[in-house]
Amino acid sequence: MTTSGRKSRLLRLGAALTPLCFMAAACSGGGGDPADFPDDNIEVIVPFSAGGPTDTVTRMIAEPMAEELGVQVVVQNIEGAGGTVAAGEAAQADADGYTVLMHHIGMSTAPTLYPDLDFNPVEDFKTIGLVTEVPMTVIARKDLEPTTLEELTTYVTDNEDSVTLAHAGIGSASHLCGVLLQQAMGVEVQEVPYDGTGPAIADLVGGQVDFMCDQTTNTTTQITSGAVKGYAVTTTEPVESLPDLPTAAEAGLDELEVTVWHGLYVPSDTPDEVVEKLNSALQVALKDQGVIDQMGDLGTAPVAEDQATPDALTQKLESEIDAWSGVLSGITAE
Ligand code: MLT
Repeated sequence: MTTSGRKSRLLRLGAALTPLCFMAAACSGGGGDPADFPDDNIEVIVPFSAGGPTDTVTRMIAEPMAEELGVQVVVQNIEGAGGTVAAGEAAQADADGYTVLMHHIGMSTAPTLYPDLDFNPVEDFKTIGLVTEVPMTVIARKDLEPTTLEELTTYVTDNEDSVTLAHAGIGSASHLCGVLLQQAMGVEVQEVPYDGTGPAIADLVGGQVDFMCDQTTNTTTQITSGAVKGYAVTTTEPVESLPDLPTAAEAGLDELEVTVWHGLYVPSDTPDEVVEKLNSALQVALKDQGVIDQMGDLGTAPVAEDQATPDALTQKLESEIDAWSGVLSGITAE
């Protein structure tokens, strides 16, 4: 992409969405030879709403990455269709490293759920590395009667026709967890899709929807403050920041086990030299004490150094595409 190309893209996105520039200087365009990379600000696309869990994690690492790269890192939210709108746009971006995609487990479910997908998660991207793997929680509006997961299962079963499950669109993590939760409970309830679990949890707090699964990076504060009711975590081990919540297995739903891995991608023609520089910055960000502390407070942690690599993310992506194609067969977004 030319300098002016990047400038106009940022202006176009920035007008409608939620940009955040890290580092002091104003956002501006630029670009050039891979050897000089980066000589301009970098845009990280988040495929869900601002204020949600993917956005939160991205903004945590953006600042130390910006410091390491010596340019600004600008977060842009492009919502829609469970993250596939953003991934499709990112796949079409110039392969110069100045447009990076942050995406999660949804990158691996999209090929199964969206038969007309306009990008190939494996072929259209180069991987930079895994970022974090986040536990999920089962939560409900605070005035819902049940106080345990077992009671919630009974309540949802008894009110199957009227109860509502919020999620962030087909293929989002909250949708996947919602599918597994309904399978484990043996129910099919009315689903209410949002553009991200930022707005979904706002409606849960407001009592407009009944229950949902969401990542601890979005729910920890809401659970501990009592704004929503927490029932269980979806991990095999308890989550330190939510010591009062049992695992779903302990609470009687042993089929409900899922974590949400996040990774960074660039278009497939991006030069390896650029990928290496982005990867080095990611490695630095994941060792940043501020990032470690913020993630820890929200129930997660940076991945280990050997996971924050292109190979580890490629392996994860490919194995999860296979795994989810079985679990989700028969479900499509169209
Ligand atoms: C978000 O950032 O809103 C989420 O990651 C949505 C989801 O996948 O459930």
